[in-house]
Amino acid sequence: MKITKNLPIGIFDSGLGGLTVLKEIQELLPNENIIYLGDTARVPYGIRTPETIIKYSLSNTNFLIKKDIKLLVVACNTSSATSLESIREEFNIPVIGVIEPGAKMAASVTTNRNIGVIGTDATIKSSAYSKAIHSLNSSIEVTERPCPLFVPLIEEGWLNDPVTEAVAKRYLENMTVDTLVLGCTHYPLIKEVIGRVIGTNVKLVDSALSTALEVKSMLEKLDLLSNNNTNSTKFFVTDGLIRFKDIGRGFLSREIDDIEKIDL
Ligand code: DGL
Repeated sequence: MKITKNLPIGIFDSGLGGLTVLKEIQELLPNENIIYLGDTARVPYGIRTPETIIKYSLSNTNFLIKKDIKLLVVACNTSSATSLESIREEFNIPVIGVIEPGAKMAASVTTNRNIGVIGTDATIKSSAYSKAIHSLNSSIEVTERPCPLFVPLIEEGWLNDPVTEAVAKRYLENMTVDTLVLGCTHYPLIKEVIGRVIGTNVKLVDSALSTALEVKSMLEKLDLLSNNNTNSTKFFVTDGLIRFKDIGRGFLSREIDDIEKIDL
């Protein structure tokens, strides 16, 4: 199939978190059509082994490729950390993950070369962020910490809650960094709490925005920016459509209308 300008961008995440990336892409590129897949039947990915996460990521990609997309955005840190190579080997499509854009942004804003990274167990175990940061600047000190309780707290909607704050205090104890990468698509939703706990002087790097900027620059480079005057977003989920709509409304600050449940 020939890749052309007005085909949609495909985005997948293990569930809802990737909506933070979708939102930034839509704000930056309002003329793009988007297809979003949330693999809500198999979330969370962050507690699984790389083999399983790769298997899930390949099946998500296969589904989106069949919808004729022009670019794939892996809007899940856990999938990006473990599966990008396998996706690129298997499919012939431009692919953007969330790790490199976040790493690039962090390396460019740190002034004391001490960067912290927080994410799921699988993301932190992969060391994908420290590898990406060190490939840009090997003199940067990277402290990585898994924060597995954040995703369920966010899914529960406890965004600005004393319990979430207490958990953040435990996870972020003694982290002396000037820049902290929110290495999980859910974490921008608790940016306020994290900022309060780590200290307002610490720069928080949100990979959602840096990924959207990367999408724009790759589409420009490939001459694939859409010249549509309209845009559409179609959502697919593998389970829990009503829950996705309800919580997704909070993530996107708008209704999710065009949505379908599918089996992969
Ligand atoms: N989307 C995942 C990530 O960005 C978090 C949720 C999960 O564990 O599946 O790492």
